[in-house]
Amino acid sequence: QSFFKPIQGSSPPPPISRNTKISVIGVGNVGMAIAQTILTQGLVDEISLVDVNADKLRGEMLDLQHAAAFLPRTKISASVDYSSTVGSDLVIVTAGARQISGESRLNLLQRNLSLFKKMIPPLAQASPESILLVVSNPVDVLTYVAWKLSGFPSNRVIGSGTNLDSSRFRFLIADHLDLNAQDVQAYIVGEHGDSSVALWSSISVGGVPILSFLERQQIAYEKHMLEKIHKEVVQGAYEVIKLKGYTSWAIGYSVASLARSILRDQRSIHPVSVLAKGFHGIHGGDAFLSLPAQLGRSGVLGVTNVHLTEDEAKQLRESAKTILDLQSQLEI
Ligand code: NAI
Ligand code: 2OP
Repeated sequence: QSFFKPIQGSSPPPPISRNTKISVIGVGNVGMAIAQTILTQGLVDEISLVDVNADKLRGEMLDLQHAAAFLPRTKISASVDYSSTVGSDLVIVTAGARQISGESRLNLLQRNLSLFKKMIPPLAQASPESILLVVSNPVDVLTYVAWKLSGFPSNRVIGSGTNLDSSRFRFLIADHLDLNAQDVQAYIVGEHGDSSVALWSSISVGGVPILSFLERQQIAYEKHMLEKIHKEVVQGAYEVIKLKGYTSWAIGYSVASLARSILRDQRSIHPVSVLAKGFHGIHGGDAFLSLPAQLGRSGVLGVTNVHLTEDEAKQLRESAKTILDLQSQLEI
C-alpha cells in the first residue's frame, strides 16, 4: 500500500537504476567528520558506515539519521560487516590507530598495516569498480599498501595526502597577507607529514606569482617568514593533537572536497597521494606521495606538469626516499 495515489493516466515509475554510494570505514573522529561534511553537501544517495565497534557504530548512525529533517535526503546504513559496502563508488578508509601527542605519523605504520591486511581485500572484493581513498596514517605508505592489496589500477587508489597540508599552507599565507585563502594558489607536495615540501616558486594570488612580484617591487620578503610558515604547516597537526587530542574538521572538509571532485567528475586539481614513480626524478620504487593531480570520475586523470626549482625537486626526492625506505621493510 503506497502512501501516495498515482495521478490518472500515469505509469509506475521506473526503478531507480543508479545510486551514488560512499562507504566510510572507521567512524572515529575523522570518519565522522568526513561523513557529516559529505552529508551536508548532498554529494551522495547512500552512505554506508563500517566499524568494529558495533555500539559506537550504531550510535553514530542513529545520530546522523536523526538529522534527516535538516539534510539532503541520503540513506545512512551501518554494519560491522565489510560486505555492507557492496557496490560503492567511493570507499574512504579512516580506520586505525591515531597519533598520541608528539608521536610521528610514520610510527603508526605497523599497527595500521595489519588492519589494512584484514580490511582492504574484502572491501576491494565488495566494490571492484570503486575508487579507494585512503586517509589513515601514515597515509602515503598505506595508500601504497592499499594499492598492492586491492589489485586495483593505480588511478583508482588515492591518498588524501597533502590536500590538507596545502589548505593549512593557504590559510597561513592568506592570514599573513590578509587575503581570502580561496584566492591563494599554493601547494605542499611530497609526504603528508614531516618531510613535506612547500612549492614557494609556484605560489600565486589572483594570477600574480607572489615571489617574483615581491622581488620586482623590491619588497623584502623575509626568507625566515617563509620558512616559519612551512614549519607551522608541519607543526599544525601536532599542535591540534596536543590541544584537543586529534584532528578532524579540516580533514573532513579536505576529503569531502576530494569526494566531490571524484563523484561529480569535476576534473579539479588537488595535491593528493598518487603513484609518483617517474615524476621529478623519483625512481627506485613505487612511491605514493602527493603531487598536484587532476581528479574525476575515474580517479586520477593525470598529474600536472608543475615547475619545481632544483631545490624543490631535490626535497621532493628526499621525501620520496623517506617513504621508499619504509616501504622496503614491509611484508605485504
Ligand atoms: P579514532 O580512534 O577516533 O577512530 C578510529 C576508528 O577506527 C575507531 O572507531 C575504531 O573502532 C575503528 N577501527 C579500528 N579497527 C577497525 C577495523 N578493522 N574495521 C573498521 N574500523 C576499525 O581515530 P581518528 O582520529 O578517526 O583517526 C583515524 C585515522 O586517520 C588515524 O590513522 C589518523 O592518524 C588518521 N588521520 C589522517 C589524516 C590525514 O590527513 N590523512 C588526518 C587526521 C587523521
Ligand atoms: C593531520 O595532519 C594527523 O595527519 C593528521 O591532521
